[in-house]
Amino acid sequence: MNQLIDNYGRKFEYLRLSITDECNFKCNYCLPDGYSSPHKKHFLTVNEIRNLLNAFSELGTKKVRITGGEPSLRKDFSEIISTIANIRTIEKVAMTTNGYSLSKNAQQWFDAGLDAINVSVDSLDAKTFYLITGKNIFQRVMQGVQACVDAGFKQVKINSVLMRGLNDRDIDLYLDWIKNQPIQLRFIELMQTEDNADFFNKHHISGEWIKEKLLASGWIRKTALNHDGPAQVFTHPTHIGEIGLIMPYSKDFCNSCNRLRVSSVGRLHLCLFGEEGIDLRDLLASSKDKERLKTRIINALTTKKESHFLHAGEMGGLPIWHL
Ligand code: 5AD
Ligand code: SF4
Repeated sequence: MNQLIDNYGRKFEYLRLSITDECNFKCNYCLPDGYSSPHKKHFLTVNEIRNLLNAFSELGTKKVRITGGEPSLRKDFSEIISTIANIRTIEKVAMTTNGYSLSKNAQQWFDAGLDAINVSVDSLDAKTFYLITGKNIFQRVMQGVQACVDAGFKQVKINSVLMRGLNDRDIDLYLDWIKNQPIQLRFIELMQTEDNADFFNKHHISGEWIKEKLLASGWIRKTALNHDGPAQVFTHPTHIGEIGLIMPYSKDFCNSCNRLRVSSVGRLHLCLFGEEGIDLRDLLASSKDKERLKTRIINALTTKKESHFLHAGEMGGLPIWHL
């Protein structure tokens, strides 16, 4: 078998690869005290990433999203992009970023072979942005978003985790913003993690509530395309931009799962939620281990469960698992 298909018929052509856990922001839902690690972690090297992706590519992977932490904190980030982009079957290389160095680097990353960017912009109000992220650089991030459009990225997506009492009042600003911008704005429902229970209870807004609000103001649900993954996409006749709604607590969320994840230290995770992952690292140093690596990945997939168990109290492995 040279394709990754699980026992429930879901096909996995999309890999999310974390290349670091480090981050320079302190988002209140993720790393309220900033990043720190009790011991120095050794993240995957470019060589290991190349071997990993060669195996995934032979198993049908077509799209890779580079995530973190903040992936651009890696000094060899452009080299990582071009390494992945140069693999023959990989059609699309994307990244998720907090936007910190976007205005400076968007063009360089585009030239290295990056196809798509998701930028986290958790508020359109500079003060609230600072309150949420711990960085007083709202304008700079917005310039970064513009730099992506200017650099030639066809697809720029914005992530916003909507939170009660923080940025929920920005909804109308967001909707106005994408009236004339070719942006897909993705509202993400806050997820509970092991560390953020109090925060979650205080600020969680149900995705259903957002959905009703959109439908009531004329937004129309688009037919789901396979590559949308678990996002529900909405359009509006007077807006160029689109809305993507990501509701991890909705009951059908897992049916459209199309992604696998590999952590910054080389563990394969079959689901965002509540599992330990399968170590691949011993097979990443040498290209000679490619066939064994492929077999391990295929075998792992046979154990993928049908659904996550958020309702049974399992929690996301965030912060490293970015959307
Ligand atoms: N709940 C929802 N989304 C989260 N992200 C990180 N932590 C959480 C969480 N607890 C997502 C945000 C951010 C991206 C990098 O990761 O969408 O934009
Ligand atoms: Fe950093 Fe992303 Fe977490 Fe914010 S959400 S603290 S940008 S890793």
